[in-house]
Amino acid sequence: MYTEKLGYGTGDASFQAAGGVAGIRQLVDDFYDLMEGLPEAQEIRAMHPAALTQSRDKLARFLCGWLGGPKLYREKYGPIRIPSAHAHLNIGTKQRDAWLSCMQQALEQQPYAASFKTYLLKQLAVPAERCRTQD
Ligand code: HEM
Repeated sequence: MYTEKLGYGTGDASFQAAGGVAGIRQLVDDFYDLMEGLPEAQEIRAMHPAALTQSRDKLARFLCGWLGGPKLYREKYGPIRIPSAHAHLNIGTKQRDAWLSCMQQALEQQPYAASFKTYLLKQLAVPAERCRTQD
């Protein structure tokens, strides 16, 4: 596969492997639907606003740029640093792992190549760790 030869981190290969804007919006919708339902995610769900519409839009737009696609977050909301955006939250290893667990389960629901699912979860663990404010 083209993206595998290039490597997912190259150019917009990851953005394409994630299905572009539509694929990433689907991933984020599934991610937040899981967060609403999973018992282990209730604590991090409660940190979010009651309505998740803007959270969904922000994460999807951020991931588009982060995966090498268009910088949609910046276009609408301006510049962002992920650790600073989470500095006001109580995120320890338990909360970090709950977030990653929602993401892992959301990834399982996507029609992505298995190698890309593994790659993306590993990549997301890096900013997730940098969001940690305690432990
Ligand atoms: C480590 C576990 C994480 C937890 C518990 C968490 C939780 C949250 C919460 C509660 C908000 C809403 C904040 C508010 O409304 O005040 C938020 C916003 C956001 N998160 Fe996370 N997050 C985590 C990791 C990540 C990661 C790894 C990314 C990106 C790869 C990310 C991207 C975002 C973005 C883009 C926003 C919107 C920020 C803004 O515009 O203010 N988060 N997160």
